Amino acid sequence: MDTPRIIIAIDGFSSCGKSTMAKSLARRIGYIYIDSGAMYRAVTLYCLDHNLIEGDTVDTDALQSHMDDIHIDFRPDPVSGKTHTFLNGIDVEQEIRSMRVSDKVSPVSAIPFVRTAMVAAQQKMGEQKGIVMDGRDIGTTVFPHAELKIFVTASAETRAQRRVDELRAKGVAVDFDEVVDNINKRDHIDQTRQESPLRKADDAILLDNSYMTIEEQDAWLIARYEETIDKLR
Ligand code: DC
Repeated sequence: MDTPRIIIAIDGFSSCGKSTMAKSLARRIGYIYIDSGAMYRAVTLYCLDHNLIEGDTVDTDALQSHMDDIHIDFRPDPVSGKTHTFLNGIDVEQEIRSMRVSDKVSPVSAIPFVRTAMVAAQQKMGEQKGIVMDGRDIGTTVFPHAELKIFVTASAETRAQRRVDELRAKGVAVDFDEVVDNINKRDHIDQTRQESPLRKADDAILLDNSYMTIEEQDAWLIARYEETIDKLR
């Protein structure tokens, strides 16, 4: 019998290493990996480039009238083979990871019509299954019937250190305290927003990876995938 193809939803707090584990699993089992956060980041970049944000306030009327002009897709980079995020045909992979975007992404991702548009696009990407998607509401809202749901958590300091290491490795100068503040602020907004707040789905498996190596985490995840497939056979 062919191996069933499933949907794998990986949710959790920011900078928990969700994308690292999701990418690694997708590569290993031949699934498509989608970073849903990159889509909210791309919308945020669009808002910044079009002067639609003042402080933490988004000009929602203007943004709503621009929504049909925002096209986000994912394409493999011809050199590295890694998937890059494109906004209206332009590679924005690096720009959407900047602090400028990280600082404003929570208010943008709390806007109901932004979420409706992103969720619809994400559901379309999962129509054929065989997908690993990471985010905040994948197991609760985007794919409530996903066959495997993981909810990842780690301490704020562990997460900040990982983010700092990641940015410094890319040559971006960052301040640890600024990153901790950004993480705490985003956690708060993500958990308390009205629309799709970050919460663990009842049927999601909890993973605290504060003290796990990448290898341990990968092995843990593949074991959960294999268990799920075995149950479906
Ligand atoms: O995973 P990330 O840090 O790149 O996500 C960026 C922001 O987007 C984060 O503050 C929460 C938001 N987000 C969301 O609201 N829903 C998702 N499915 C993914 C991300």
